[in-house]
Amino acid sequence: MPRSLTHRLATSPWVVAAVNGRPRTGDAELRAAVTGRTVLVTGASFGIGEATARQLAEAGAKVLLVARTADRLHELAAELGAHPYPCDLTDYDAAADLAGRILYEHGPPDVLLNNAGKSIRRSVADAAERFHDYERTIAINYLAPVRLSLALLPAMRERGSGHLVNLSTSGVRGLPAAPGWSAYQASKAAFDVWSRSVAQEVRADGIASTSIYMGLVKTRMSAPNFRSTPGLTPEQAGALVCDAIVRRPRTAGPPWVPIADVFANGLMRGTSEKVLTRAFLRRELSR
Ligand SMILES: NC(=O)c1ccc[n+]([C@@H]2O[C@H](COP(=O)([O-])OP(=O)(O)OC[C@H]3O[C@@H](n4cnc5c(N)ncnc54)[C@H](OP(=O)(O)O)[C@@H]3O)[C@@H](O)[C@H]2O)c1
Repeated sequence: MPRSLTHRLATSPWVVAAVNGRPRTGDAELRAAVTGRTVLVTGASFGIGEATARQLAEAGAKVLLVARTADRLHELAAELGAHPYPCDLTDYDAAADLAGRILYEHGPPDVLLNNAGKSIRRSVADAAERFHDYERTIAINYLAPVRLSLALLPAMRERGSGHLVNLSTSGVRGLPAAPGWSAYQASKAAFDVWSRSVAQEVRADGIASTSIYMGLVKTRMSAPNFRSTPGLTPEQAGALVCDAIVRRPRTAGPPWVPIADVFANGLMRGTSEKVLTRAFLRRELSR
């Protein structure tokens, strides 16, 4: 089969959506689940967060938008009838103040979607003088959502309902830890473990928790490294997030993740690491 045809097939929206998972939720179901509910979306200015916020607002949710880019949040809020809260979540005092303001103005959110994030691809050799790579990723991917969750959870628990949604990655579960991604993957893994641990503490108070192990999504975050790799559109990813908000499973993500986890991280870990190492070395040598 000519390469272009293979590529066209692999990148067709149907194949990409089939491989990465399809939402089961229809519009009516989403409307029934979120109309009048308060959903706080972090990282709502671009990518998956923006697409999810749009779908939630269109379905009748009261959407609270959080990100740093104030102009973009204000435009989006005006368009969607949502509420903009510009904030750098890595300023932990600002994140705690934001939580206080949200509780005062709207009460505890029904859904807290911890989506804001940052990825860095860099080998440990290139990071020798860049400890800040690790500080930056841990700040936004781990400590910021912990800070926000700690400030909001007491009110959610007291009310006796709510849903924590963690936008994690199939790089944490499903695929093996990939060379070149130590800063990003370690920070995402930290929040994944935090979420799964806390989920068990808060379940008895009526708080559900979902970890979404998302596959590749074509956003500004993934663009520099995966320009020609097939992936979901932000709208498709947003639909998967909305599906998780409706169904509230413990985990969500592409259907291949649990199977890949057994093989790539378990039974065939040696082989999968060899494949990844070869790809990593090829890339390093071609630079
Ligand atoms: N794209 C993928 O393939 C993929 C796959 C698996 C998981 N994910 C996860 O999905 C989430 C969203 O990623 P994306 O691909 O949609 O990336 P994106 O388009 O770059 O969006 C990231 C969002 O996070 C916000 N953000 C970053 N730093 C922030 C800070 N300090 N304070 C507040 N907001 C901040 C950004 O807004 P501002 O710049 O305006 O602050 C932006 O809205 C991330 O957690 C990522 O790890 C992505």
